[in-house]
Amino acid sequence: MLDLKSEETLSTLIKAQIRLEKDIGEKLSSLEQRVDSIGAKLLIREMQLDTKKHAEILQEALKAAGTKSFWDYTIHIDADKQTVKRELEGHIKAEEKMMEHLKEEAKRTDDDALKLLLNHFAEDEKKHHKYLKTILDKTYKIDI
Ligand SMILES: [Fe+2]
Ligand SMILES: [Fe+2]
Repeated sequence: MLDLKSEETLSTLIKAQIRLEKDIGEKLSSLEQRVDSIGAKLLIREMQLDTKKHAEILQEALKAAGTKSFWDYTIHIDADKQTVKRELEGHIKAEEKMMEHLKEEAKRTDDDALKLLLNHFAEDEKKHHKYLKTILDKTYKIDI
């Protein structure tokens, strides 16, 4: 049950979210030790790692949150932009390859739990593919 007051600021809400993610993450990891099927264990572990991911990313986002949009919020990096762009493009292909791999693995197993996990990962790779396209589109529109 969420008891959110309209005057809560975004950063207060995000801080509370981080605490919630951490708290649920701990509960999931204790639960993982006490379920008796591998399917349940692996799905709970996947959820637990997701809570960790959410907490970590939100923590980083909080540090940068302020007046500028995150796309315009640039930091000085000592790297060649064109080389980085090429690497990002290479990653797009790698994500596609991983997605195809996972789909094929999912097709070849009759185990429902494993199929579910592999399909989750294939969806993740599909998302990663989109993330990279967004990054290229938003910040690497330079000619090489
Ligand atoms: Fe979460
Ligand atoms: Fe990936």
